Amino acid sequence: MPAAMLAAVADGTVPAAPKIACPMTQAPETDSTNGDPLPPHAPLTAYYADEQERHRFLRRIFDETASDYDRIEKVLALGSGAWYRGRALRRARLKPGAEVLDVGIGTGLLARQVLKIIGPGGRLVGVDPSPGMMGQVQLPGVALLSGRAEALPCPDASCDFVSMGYALRHLADLSAAFAEFHRVLRPGGRLLMLEITRPARPWALFALKAYMRAVVPAVAAVVARQRKTSELWRYYWDTIEACVPPEAVLAALREAGFRRVRRYVELGTFSEYTAFKPGASIT
Ligand SMILES: C[S@@+](CC[C@H](N)C(=O)[O-])C[C@H]1O[C@@H](n2cnc3c(N)ncnc32)[C@H](O)[C@@H]1O
Repeated sequence: MPAAMLAAVADGTVPAAPKIACPMTQAPETDSTNGDPLPPHAPLTAYYADEQERHRFLRRIFDETASDYDRIEKVLALGSGAWYRGRALRRARLKPGAEVLDVGIGTGLLARQVLKIIGPGGRLVGVDPSPGMMGQVQLPGVALLSGRAEALPCPDASCDFVSMGYALRHLADLSAAFAEFHRVLRPGGRLLMLEITRPARPWALFALKAYMRAVVPAVAAVVARQRKTSELWRYYWDTIEACVPPEAVLAALREAGFRRVRRYVELGTFSEYTAFKPGASIT
C-alpha cells in the first residue's frame, strides 16, 4: 500500500479494508502546469480568505460531513444518483475490463457504478485529499490513494479511463488537473467529468438557486447528523453559481491535449464532459 495511504490508515481515518495492490506509486512533487492556472471560480471569501485557507476549509468540511454525504445526496441530489451516474459512464463508453482512475472519489458514489460496469476483469483506483470521505468508501477491491487532481499519485499512461464526479468546482487549477488526466491516461483513453452547471435559462436558474439555497440547506439541517453539513450544501451552490462557464472547461481540455472534447447536458444543468486522448484506440 502506498505511503500516503498507509499514513491515513495509521491515523485511523481510512479503514484498512482489503484493497488490491496498486501499481500507481509515483507522486509528482509539484502540480502539473499547462500555461496559466485556471481556477474553477474566483475566491469565495465568505468561506475563506485565501487559497491556503480554501484548502483547509475544503478538507475540514468534507472530513467533518463525510458520514452524512451519501444520505443527503440520496435525498437532495436532483437525480444525480446511482442511476444517472451509471448512465453517464455508459454514455462515455466505459467498458468491462477497463482500468479506471476515479478522481475525487469521495465516499465512492461514482466508483460504485464504475465497478458495476468494469466487472471483475477491471481495476479501480480512487484518489481524494479527504481521508474522512475515503473512510466511508465500502467497495471491495478498490485501491485508495490520498492525493489531488492537480498532482496525481500515479505513473504516466497507467489507466484506460479517468472519471471525476462533482469535484471539478473544488479543484485549485483546472489546467493542471487536465494535464494530469492526460498524463495518466493511456493513448486512446477516455475522460468523463460530471458536474452541475449553472442553467442558462433565467427561470431554470431561479428554480435551481431557490432549491439549492433554501430547500437543500434546510433539509440538510434536519436530515444531517453533522453540524457542518448544511454549510457544505450552501457552499455547493455558491461554487456552482461562481463556476467558470462550460466553454472555459472545454477549451482547457483541448489545451491539455484532449480531442473529441464534448459536453452533453441533461435538464440544462447536469454536464457530462467527455474527452479522448489521441493514440491507439482501446475500444
Ligand atoms: C462532492 S464530492 C464527490 C464525490 C463523488 N465523486 C461523487 O460522485 O459523489 C467531491 C470530492 O472532491 C474531493 N476533492 C476536493 N478537492 C480535490 C482535488 N483538488 N482533487 C481531487 N479531489 C478533490 C473532496 O474531498 C470530495 O471528496
